[in-house]
Amino acid sequence: MTDRRFYVTTPIYYVNARPHLGHLYTTLLADTLARHYRQRCFETFFLTGTDEHGLNIERAAAAANLPVKAYVDATVAEFQRTFAAFGLQPDDWIRTTDPAHIAGAQTLWRQVRERGYIYKGHYEGWYCPSCNEFKEEVTPGEAPVCDIHLRPTEWVAEESYFFKLSAFRDRLLEFYETQPEAVQPDTRRNEVRSFVAANLRDLSISRISVKWGIPVPDDPAHTMYVWFDALSNYITALGYGNGRRQDFDRFWPYVLHLVGKDILRFHAVYWPAFLMAAGLPLPRRVFSHGMWLSGGRKMSKTPDASGRSNAIDLDVLRRHFSNDVVRYFCLREMAYGQDGDFTYEALIDRANGDLASGLGNLASRTVTLIRKAFGGAVPNVPPDAPEEARAMAATIAERFAAQRPVFLAHIERLALSRALETAWELVALLDKYLSDTAPWKLTAHPGAQPRLATILHTAAEGLRHLAVWLYPFLPDATGQLWNRLGLAGHPAAVAPEDLSWQRFEGAVVADGPGLFPRLDKTAIMNDIENTSRPGTPELTAAPSQAAEPSPAGGESGYITIDDFAKVELRVGQVLTAERVPKADKLLCLQVDVGETAPRQILAGIAQYYAPETLIGRKIVVVTNLAPRKLRGLESNGMLLAASVGEQGRPVIATFAEDVPNGARLK
Ligand code: MSP
Repeated sequence: MTDRRFYVTTPIYYVNARPHLGHLYTTLLADTLARHYRQRCFETFFLTGTDEHGLNIERAAAAANLPVKAYVDATVAEFQRTFAAFGLQPDDWIRTTDPAHIAGAQTLWRQVRERGYIYKGHYEGWYCPSCNEFKEEVTPGEAPVCDIHLRPTEWVAEESYFFKLSAFRDRLLEFYETQPEAVQPDTRRNEVRSFVAANLRDLSISRISVKWGIPVPDDPAHTMYVWFDALSNYITALGYGNGRRQDFDRFWPYVLHLVGKDILRFHAVYWPAFLMAAGLPLPRRVFSHGMWLSGGRKMSKTPDASGRSNAIDLDVLRRHFSNDVVRYFCLREMAYGQDGDFTYEALIDRANGDLASGLGNLASRTVTLIRKAFGGAVPNVPPDAPEEARAMAATIAERFAAQRPVFLAHIERLALSRALETAWELVALLDKYLSDTAPWKLTAHPGAQPRLATILHTAAEGLRHLAVWLYPFLPDATGQLWNRLGLAGHPAAVAPEDLSWQRFEGAVVADGPGLFPRLDKTAIMNDIENTSRPGTPELTAAPSQAAEPSPAGGESGYITIDDFAKVELRVGQVLTAERVPKADKLLCLQVDVGETAPRQILAGIAQYYAPETLIGRKIVVVTNLAPRKLRGLESNGMLLAASVGEQGRPVIATFAEDVPNGARLK
């Protein structure tokens, strides 16, 4: 058995909402670790995916008036597109609606049942469909409010299968005791241990009233409890119960489950208990990270008193910041196991400080000096280098050698923020080295060439090491830095432990823009505010559907209420959306605006919205515009969208609350 294997998983995400920063974060943490271990030639498998069953998803699809599968397909596509846009590269994407997963989850059920840990009974209790968890009654007879989702729970009373969780109390406690690295950080493990020691009751693991789920083997009137179904993804993706046993044997012993602290209990209590019941090996590590807050508050889409939401919009993030900047900020700012505070201001400060002024400036100073002093050829330490210059360079090399195990150990225990701190101590060291030795003062003195060569070799060599160390965190910028240093290949292909302080053979530095352009805080913050404050951006027709000039208005610029009443605005719901052949800007939508038949509407938004993401969306439609023809197709209405930024990017107007199709806007 080799130890050089690494299997990392993220939670599989619920598909009843669009992807948000929390989903992005866990996935980029996994992506960074996967890149690190791959770089070190570990056989690596990075799994993410989507949790697609359950009451909430069934309801979201019904609200969107869509078959559940069509609804989940559309949301999954949006998750995949978002993660790809941020450069995340999972090896596999498991969907709980995949037939192979369904078969595997049913195998797990059978195995647990055959070993005597499932029995039939009757359940009565309060259920939160958003957590997919039963909640304790506080006041007798009153629905408790879910403390996470702040919504009343729902009463469930029905026949149910139960899992004998109570039988695993002692074995779980022993597991935490003998394998302390299995649940991390320590403080979280202590919480889990107290929970298990105090109250471990049997768990209801099936529902009759939920139809959108995996049928219980041999009793299809029941569907599996969503968490039984979902947790099993970690092994069904490896072929457990569906035929690829070799992947299971190869990767399962090396698993690391990354989860937010909100769902640690499911992973650190229920999941090991299910595995114990099935007689399968237990997870090696479960790591619970903190939650992102924004401005010190829980992120919420609901606007505050000033009319603004503090939620971080992934589209805004993507538009204003490079992937590397987002990665660096998220990984640096969330300290080991603690909550992190995400604000755009802090992100810009870190990008300008640590990246632009720090690593970026160090790289550009070094490259510029090499060009100026050596015509671009990266120098080596010459035989006639002065002793004291050699000694200084040797100290730098020693510091790099000493910090490497520290850096690697931080990554090993998942303290990525500490790993970055360690690397930035070396950025600061090289910066100080350049300030102390002032190589720019030596370029004019031919006699100082050996000293200058020693300094610039040392700076370039330090940068080469940093490019390798930091590749998993900053995959784009480190690739560029590698090119700037005139090196062949890519830092992804060099393992940090294989690095030694060495000579540059024939490397010639390359020209290029700064690795991290400075961000203009005022301009970006203004732009973000203008595009996110409700009501601020101008509501316009989507491009190509430009509104007719208004006959009303007059000199005052005002219109009367009667003028406004002439425009009939109604709630519509997109039923289908397709590209229009040979028209790269147009989408053809069928929209239900509460009439007997849907309306066909053409909208110039194809460059900004993939058709499948619109299906089910509630939109605002001008329903009394005269029909017009575009590309031979009739358009019977116009959808409203905000026109954003210089390009006039359309952002479709929608509703935060559920509204019936056809409702009039006044
Ligand atoms: N479907 C379940 C997980 C099943 S795993 C077998 C679920 N899905 S979820 O869509 O709600 O995603 C929860 C996960 O998203 C958290 O555990 C965490 O990884 C991430 N985050 C959600 N909100 C977050 C923050 N505000 N901050 C950081 N991560 C958070 O639960």
